[in-house]
Amino acid sequence: MSALVSPTQAEVLDVAALRAQFPGLHQQVHGHPLVYLDNAATGQVPQTVIDAIVHFHTHDRANVHRGVHELSQRATAAYDGVRQTAARFLNASLPEEIVYTAGTTDGLNLVAASWGGAHLEPGDVIVVTEMEHHANLVPWQRIAEETGAEVRAIGITPSGELDMDAARALFATLGERIRVLSFVHISNALGTINPVEALVALGRSVGALVVIDGAQATPHQPVDVQALGCDVYVFSGHKVFGPTGVGILWGRAEVLESMPPYRSGGDMIEHVTLTHSTYQPAPLRFEAGTPHIAGVIGLGAALTWLMDLGMDRVAATEAALWNAARPRLEAIDRVIPIGTAADKVGVFSFTVEGAHPTDIGMLLDTKGIAVRTGHHCAQPVMDHFGLSATARASFAMYNTPEEVDRLIDGLERVIALF
Ligand code: ALA
Repeated sequence: MSALVSPTQAEVLDVAALRAQFPGLHQQVHGHPLVYLDNAATGQVPQTVIDAIVHFHTHDRANVHRGVHELSQRATAAYDGVRQTAARFLNASLPEEIVYTAGTTDGLNLVAASWGGAHLEPGDVIVVTEMEHHANLVPWQRIAEETGAEVRAIGITPSGELDMDAARALFATLGERIRVLSFVHISNALGTINPVEALVALGRSVGALVVIDGAQATPHQPVDVQALGCDVYVFSGHKVFGPTGVGILWGRAEVLESMPPYRSGGDMIEHVTLTHSTYQPAPLRFEAGTPHIAGVIGLGAALTWLMDLGMDRVAATEAALWNAARPRLEAIDRVIPIGTAADKVGVFSFTVEGAHPTDIGMLLDTKGIAVRTGHHCAQPVMDHFGLSATARASFAMYNTPEEVDRLIDGLERVIALF
């Protein structure tokens, strides 16, 4: 499950036909056709997602769960129906295990505050990894401060892989003091695909809650939460070619039942008096207030679109591009790749001797090439490599070999300037 599907295992997609569905990809930037290589930050959206959002605002716009009138019924049906779509996308057993969130960060805050607040005690240990995005680090640090638990991290190797010997030693030493294992499926800063099966087994061996940050995995490969065997899996809409400000938290039913509300207000209650309230079962218990209805509907359209393509074919298409691009990118003179794990998705983090990543990003932008620069919200990863920032080109299934050529060309020109 954790490795990219090889191009021979599944049919690759017709990339030209795919690209045609993304209006955002067809524009000139600074006089050049856009080369969009910032997909790990945010993907572009296909027309079907835009259409679903416009349809909601044009025809069905009303609040959900609150009206008997036709528009509210339609909005509610469309909104609630996305739980089934998301459950199918993750192979979850029940739509009630799908909680709508504002994104991966929100989902991780929810589980840390709610599960952590209810279950953690002084002396308990939360294990994360050195390659976490800040979203899977800071919420655990905060709940550890509140509860008296402590955060420990599995380190990374020079190639940017998890040090699994150190992980096994940590679990052997701390045993059942470890109450939570929360780790990133695929690193946003390095592209490393983590050994999920081995990590889940470690978590299970001590009875810990196992949480996976799937923000960077869900756009690239099939995810089956039942096969993974974790307790909680979170991801964001905007990385899977859907809207920003919306995401999914999947939680095993009994885990969600053990979690108290996180935010309070309308729609999450059963009965309210002036002094006391009772709460809805999951998932509504976690969804106070008028939600991002259009966002959820747009996310449903994005997930349906991806499933129609077939995530195994998405993975195969990306693998074909990345397997050809990677050696060429890593061979560019004076480019230093950061994160050289064997098992990687198309995330190329790098520095260039003598050039600041911000300058690289700005110069590439003048050629219409969009990459991200900075610490990628993963400062411990940067610290590990003794860096403050990298430049990062991140690929999606709609990128082309011609765009790889443009990136290499652009980089060679940039490097020549320094
Ligand atoms: N987490 C996103 C990134 O890696 C924003 O760029």
